[in-house]
Amino acid sequence: MSAAPEAKYTEETVLWVERHTPKLMTFAITRPESYRFSAGQFSRLGFRDGSGFIWRAYSVVSAEYADTLEYFAVLIENGPMSAKLAALQSGDTVLLDKTATGFLLPERFADGRDLVMLCTGSGIAPFLSILEQPEIWQRFDSLTLAHSVSYAGELIFNGRIAALQAHPLVGEYFHKLTFLPVLTREQAAGALNKRLPELLKNGGLAAAAGKTFTPQDTRFMICGNPAMVRDTFQALLDMGFAMHRNRIPGQIMMENGF
Ligand SMILES: Cc1cc2nc3c(=O)[nH]c(=O)nc-3n(C[C@H](O)[C@H](O)[C@H](O)COP(=O)(O)OP(=O)(O)OC[C@H]3O[C@@H](n4cnc5c(N)ncnc54)[C@H](O)[C@@H]3O)c2cc1C
Ligand SMILES: NC(=O)c1ccc[n+]([C@@H]2O[C@H](COP(=O)([O-])OP(=O)(O)OC[C@H]3O[C@@H](n4cnc5c(N)ncnc54)[C@H](OP(=O)(O)O)[C@@H]3O)[C@@H](O)[C@H]2O)c1
Repeated sequence: MSAAPEAKYTEETVLWVERHTPKLMTFAITRPESYRFSAGQFSRLGFRDGSGFIWRAYSVVSAEYADTLEYFAVLIENGPMSAKLAALQSGDTVLLDKTATGFLLPERFADGRDLVMLCTGSGIAPFLSILEQPEIWQRFDSLTLAHSVSYAGELIFNGRIAALQAHPLVGEYFHKLTFLPVLTREQAAGALNKRLPELLKNGGLAAAAGKTFTPQDTRFMICGNPAMVRDTFQALLDMGFAMHRNRIPGQIMMENGF
């Protein structure tokens, strides 16, 4: 049963599925010619479910110019969509809402020199897409990506981030990037060891990034656990930064990752 032309969604084919840990997976689906998104936006993916549908939001991991659409999912115990994704295999059909959405878009910052991307868990997904856009690397003098997870085994994108140095479009700018893995429930060499709001308050993040964070130069993007987004936003407000709105420019842009 394929979608009617007037439907709000298209039917896409799963191209591959990679299971990194029991709860972390990446997968790719076919991309319709007409599907447009900006790096940082999310898709709505769905499945037929009994007589109805199930839909959830997933940030696009792949670049705007990629031929396929890649996603990163954290599987939730007893989650209805997680159960569908846990069974996903290449060749399966996934429904793709025709419209991508979201305002986590670095180009909305009209000024600033240093972009700091703060994320937890699956909140890294939009930043992986953003990091494949050459305009972002050209636009900012430095990029810092801090990714907080509980355990080292959840840092599954270290290789992908390191591989950006050989990327045909952004590799030449790779020296501008500082990647800061953050582990909150165990320690490992090279990883920070406190939650993001605390690392902002105690100066640990700025020190690790080798930057002084200032309203004039620094722009923050936050994505992930809603409690982290709330607490990180508050920490930045307390440090003198302000929410960015198109008509009232500020330094902070954020999105709840679930
Ligand atoms: C704007 C937006 C973008 C999103 N992008 C992604 C993405 O790129 N990857 C992804 O895995 N999920 C993403 N999500 C969450 C996703 O839409 C689903 O909620 C999630 O996959 C779980 O679906 P579920 O039906 O199994 O459980 P749900 O019933 O939807 O969720 C049950 C509970 O699980 C927790 N939870 C949900 N999602 C997560 C998560 N990602 N990490 C940790 N805890 C979570 C919450 O406490 C939630 O109340 C996004 C959500 C939003 C709103
Ligand atoms: N049963 C358990 O013990 C357990 C443990 C972890 C996750 N889970 C469940 O597993 C699923 C996926 O979890 P996940 O680990 O991918 O995502 P997550 O729970 O959002 O955790 C990801 C990262 O966000 C951090 N974080 C959470 N709240 C924060 C806050 N208010 N401020 C700053 N940082 C914060 C976590 O730190 P912390 O490690 O300090 O929380 C961790 O580093 C969820 O359903 C979650 O509830 C269960």
